[in-house]
Amino acid sequence: SIKIVTIGGGSSYTPELMEGFIKRYKELPISEIWLVDIEDGKEKLEIVGELAQRMWDATPYPVRVITTLNRREALKDADFVTTQFRVGLLDARIKDERIPLLHGMLGQETNGAGGMFKAFRTIPVMKEIVQDMKELCPEAWLINFTNPSGIITEAVIKHFGWKKCIGLCNVPVISMMNEPKVIGKQVGELNYQFAGLNHFHWHKVFDEEGKEVTGQLIDHINEKSGGTPANIYQAEFSLELLHSTNLLPCGYHRYYYLEKEMLEHSLEEFRKGGTRAEQMKAVEASLFEIYKNPDLNKKPEELQKRGGAYYSEAACECINAIYNNKGIHMVVSTQNNGAISCLNSDSVVEVSCLISAKGATPMAWGDMGSFEKGQLQVMKAMEECTISAALSGDYGMALQAFTINPLIQKGGEAKQVLNELLVAHEKYLPQF
Ligand code: NAD
Ligand code: G6P
Ligand code: MN
Repeated sequence: SIKIVTIGGGSSYTPELMEGFIKRYKELPISEIWLVDIEDGKEKLEIVGELAQRMWDATPYPVRVITTLNRREALKDADFVTTQFRVGLLDARIKDERIPLLHGMLGQETNGAGGMFKAFRTIPVMKEIVQDMKELCPEAWLINFTNPSGIITEAVIKHFGWKKCIGLCNVPVISMMNEPKVIGKQVGELNYQFAGLNHFHWHKVFDEEGKEVTGQLIDHINEKSGGTPANIYQAEFSLELLHSTNLLPCGYHRYYYLEKEMLEHSLEEFRKGGTRAEQMKAVEASLFEIYKNPDLNKKPEELQKRGGAYYSEAACECINAIYNNKGIHMVVSTQNNGAISCLNSDSVVEVSCLISAKGATPMAWGDMGSFEKGQLQVMKAMEECTISAALSGDYGMALQAFTINPLIQKGGEAKQVLNELLVAHEKYLPQF
């Protein structure tokens, strides 16, 4: 019998996770799912916890959902710990997005200044979680979904020494689900190879005969195929640029290749209806109204409005592949181990891996072109500076992270954004 613990259990994504486990119950015989949250998330935890139990009660499976604010009680003897918490909830994300935008810089959950501050808030909490795990469930796997997923996973593996950690994201999942139909293929008929960092990876694709179809997919990349998460505005990529790289970028590359267009669009949205975080706060409120309905016992369609749709396809399948030693292909964040030759071996990267009882084994990608290599090395350095600042609370290191981040305008105003964010999030930044 398997004990799952989900930290940040009050998230509106929890029904998604339940659906994924229910679908796989025959292979993955869970007995208990502990949903852990904090005082600020208590109400959400109760509502979503009750829905989660109703979802299981509608199946023949005897799974118990336990909600608690006591993390240590929950972690005792856990087999798999999944993390999906947000320090400061959506109100903190609103600040991450608004403050940079007010200075004409991109405000986004995982990119630019906002993404770095999400890491600053999350890393101290993650450190405590890993300390508890060392004591209470030393054999458990930590499946991290908390953003910025790649950065948090690197902190856990490299700095807190928890090797049994895998970082997840739904972006590769939704590409692999939606791209085949664009060129008249079915899901599963194409072979994928991904490499890069979380929210900064590229992929290439081959058909059943091994013929590369990346170029064909590039031709269709600006069509609305559903292959890009709902939260990313689909500004048009330059086909000349993509054909010349012969790689499919991820949706988040738009912030870097089309920085001006993306910034203009977020400023426009900001003036019209508020930042994405403000819009999501309204979506979340309406989701919880739906969850309260005592007759509801499945995941409601409305959850698909969130960018994280299909996240359980990654989380539950990864746990299943570890538990059943499946050796299947999945794209996850794990230590590089030579898969990407231009990055250090111990750096966390998001790459095509085989997932088995041993965890994730990255598949070799080989050499990157100069274009990709230059960006990757800058982005990895930015991630390293971010982690270093998050661990030490060193102001100069935070400035280094800001200065190397391609989405922050260099100069005095960058420092102003940093200072304002430090004040706005003071409560969640004990290290600074
Ligand atoms: P949310 O604001 O609902 O937060 C989830 C829960 O975490 C809340 O109930 C909150 O009270 C709780 N929480 C906060 N601090 C905590 C702590 N110290 N310990 C335990 N619980 C705590 O967030 P959400 O919008 O549902 O997103 C959840 C997380 O998943 C975020 O970190 C988000 O970035 C991430 N996410 C990741 C992906 C991905 O692709 N990896 C996709 C979507 C969302
Ligand atoms: C995307 C990403 C997540 C991201 C989220 C935002 O698909 O993979 O990492 O943070 O969805 O979604 P939201 O609906 O909260 O803006
Ligand atoms: Mn993601």
